[in-house]
Amino acid sequence: MPTTENDLLLMAKDLRTWFEIKKWGFLHVGHVRAVDGVNFTLDRGESVSLVGESGCGKSSLAKTIMGIHQPTEGELIFEGNTVDSTDEQSMRQYKSEIGFVQQDPYGALPPFMSIQRILEEPMIVNGIKDKEKRLKRIHQVMEELKMTPVEDFLKKYPHMLSGGQQQRIVIARSLVLNPKLIMADEPVSMLDASVRVEILELIKKIQAERELAVIYITHDLSTVRYFSERIWVMYGGKIVEQSPVRDLLKEPAHPYTRALLEAISEPDADNIHNYKKVPPGEPPSLLNPPRGCRFHPRCEHMIEGLCDQEIPPDFQLANNRLTACWLFRDEEEAGDVAI
Ligand SMILES: Nc1ncnc2c1ncn2[C@@H]1O[C@H](COP(=O)(O)OP(=O)(O)OP(=O)(O)O)[C@@H](O)[C@H]1O
Ligand code: SF4
Ligand SMILES: [Mg+2]
Repeated sequence: MPTTENDLLLMAKDLRTWFEIKKWGFLHVGHVRAVDGVNFTLDRGESVSLVGESGCGKSSLAKTIMGIHQPTEGELIFEGNTVDSTDEQSMRQYKSEIGFVQQDPYGALPPFMSIQRILEEPMIVNGIKDKEKRLKRIHQVMEELKMTPVEDFLKKYPHMLSGGQQQRIVIARSLVLNPKLIMADEPVSMLDASVRVEILELIKKIQAERELAVIYITHDLSTVRYFSERIWVMYGGKIVEQSPVRDLLKEPAHPYTRALLEAISEPDADNIHNYKKVPPGEPPSLLNPPRGCRFHPRCEHMIEGLCDQEIPPDFQLANNRLTACWLFRDEEEAGDVAI
């Protein structure tokens, strides 16, 4: 939760991104509700981890925030102004405020462009015509990322670099326009284990030094504690729990979060034989999602007649925590719930 209006960088209000599905290219079948009623606030300089199982809508939410997908409904408010996808100029400005670090660095870098060209490209698109100025920025960022001597890298092509170096170039490209937010969508999952920590440390260092907000999407819950102050748990196109990381790891509220934490394998010899409880059943279809709470077919706490009928709104818990679960429908009852 923002402490003041000035701290608030980005807010989403009932954000929806639905993809139309057509049979034989023309027959309307329905919509995949990849993002379906998402609300959040993100402060300046804040680092948040977005977690949830595969296909729950994390990348679709990220792309909607970045302006790659146009929201079907709802609103994004950046620095107090509604993001207007119909206004080309203000969209370009908004997009320049968000740097993107994607999962696959090699796929993210055009193979036929030199590193210099790759790093100049966003500045050219954003009207920085002065070549000297562009090169100065590139040098600054590359030095910040300890990619020196800079000139040696600039002449190279992506295939001439290691996976870790390629990801550093992706990070450099995300920074050349001095963004206020970095969207890191599983930034290390395709890298060798040996460079993962190094890249995560680098993103964390830049975040602290530049006071950048970061949305870090990951499947790896073990890195969340190290990386973020807050966590958003996504399930079936919705954020079902928002919490400071420490509180959530100590006392997960939403039954889905509890199941997710129980399924983590801690790299601890004592845990090796622990039974890993994963919620039974399949993730919900986003083409035809279950009525009511999307987790209800898998939830052992499901309240018949309520959870299977009504979508739970976000309920406020202590420590600025929110959870979309009927078990917390009022504070007295929340007090009774053993979390
Ligand atoms: N452009 C698109 N057109 C149609 N459906 C899409 C599109 N992009 C995503 N989807 C669908 O939206 C749903 C959410 O996908 P998304 O990639 O956002 O999930 P995710 O949480 O990022 O998954 P993962 O952890 O595997 O990366 C999936 O059912 C996916 O097939
Ligand atoms: S709202 Fe009901 S079904 Fe959904 S997680 Fe909470 S208890 Fe389970
Ligand atoms: Mg994804």
